[in-house]
Amino acid sequence: MTNLFYGLFFATVLFASRTYGDPLEKCQARNHSYAIGDTGFCDKYYDCGSNGKLIEKDCDDGFVFSLEITKCDYPHNVNCTERPELQPSKSTNEQCPRMNGFYAFPASESCQKFYHCLEGSAYEKTCPEGIIFDDTKGACVHPDMAGRKDCSASKVLDFICPNAEKRFSKLRFGDHDRHAHPSDCRKFYVCTRDGQPRIGGCPIGKVFNPKTGVCDQPKRVPNCKDYYGKKAAPKTEGDDVEEVNNDGSDSEASNSESDDENKTDSKQSPPSNHKSKTVG
Ligand SMILES: *[C@@H]1O[C@H](CO)[C@@H](O)[C@H](O)[C@H]1NC(C)=O
Ligand SMILES: *[C@@H]1O[C@H](CO)[C@@H](O)[C@H](O)[C@H]1NC(C)=O
Ligand SMILES: *[C@@H]1O[C@H](CO)[C@@H](O)[C@H](O)[C@H]1NC(C)=O
Repeated sequence: MTNLFYGLFFATVLFASRTYGDPLEKCQARNHSYAIGDTGFCDKYYDCGSNGKLIEKDCDDGFVFSLEITKCDYPHNVNCTERPELQPSKSTNEQCPRMNGFYAFPASESCQKFYHCLEGSAYEKTCPEGIIFDDTKGACVHPDMAGRKDCSASKVLDFICPNAEKRFSKLRFGDHDRHAHPSDCRKFYVCTRDGQPRIGGCPIGKVFNPKTGVCDQPKRVPNCKDYYGKKAAPKTEGDDVEEVNNDGSDSEASNSESDDENKTDSKQSPPSNHKSKTVG
């Protein structure tokens, strides 16, 4: 009982101090003005002028203040754990929870689509095929990496890995195996150790060879020899079997289709830290 009491007591005190909000540190007169975060609100900061005077400021709606770069930035680049409060949204657009940011569609509508909200206007974007949007990362990622409920990898890709049941079985490439796509010779599925599929693709000019599990000359894959047309396949450097790009590693979603000319949205994955919103 006593423990519970103290737990509640401290929780209340903590919450109170966060609710009011104060600069995280004292403002010191320096040659240059600088920015200080708020103790409670992640989207609030203070400009500390060279005269030592504080001016309270808000990040544009949808941005939060990064203590690392002392600028407002996208929430997926900032850790707000210790400053969890946010000011009310200023958005009146139902597609934009806030005026700015990247917001996934509900899974019932699309796992691949998201809105880029800019000053309250929504721009619809689509992740490349087989890749879905993850709000928390602000990026298009392999479905198994997003861990979005109702957007499971097997559902999004409509493919069940042979090792989905017997997990951690021995795989051809150590941490993964690769399997042919049922209808597209250039594509393949990477099955990770825990039995989840990811989409992979071969460079233009190559097709997936199910026997070897790597991208290969079309002439070496009987079912796919005419994939690029009956005439000679486009020239590729050398005749060697090329290792595929997509090794199922944990890095960001590889852009398996990057050399497709008409892929509209493959380059529109949201920004990295560099596009951070500047303060002031
Ligand atoms: C502030 O400016 C003065 C004069 O320009 C200089 O001597 C001093 O080193 C500067 N201080 C800092 C902390 O940069
Ligand atoms: C965010 O900060 C909290 C507290 O400082 C820390 O425990 C947590 O690991 C951090 N999260 C990330 C993703 O860095
Ligand atoms: C790409 O799009 C253009 C015009 O939208 C079309 O004429 C062309 O055939 C397309 N190319 C491919 C490879 O789909």
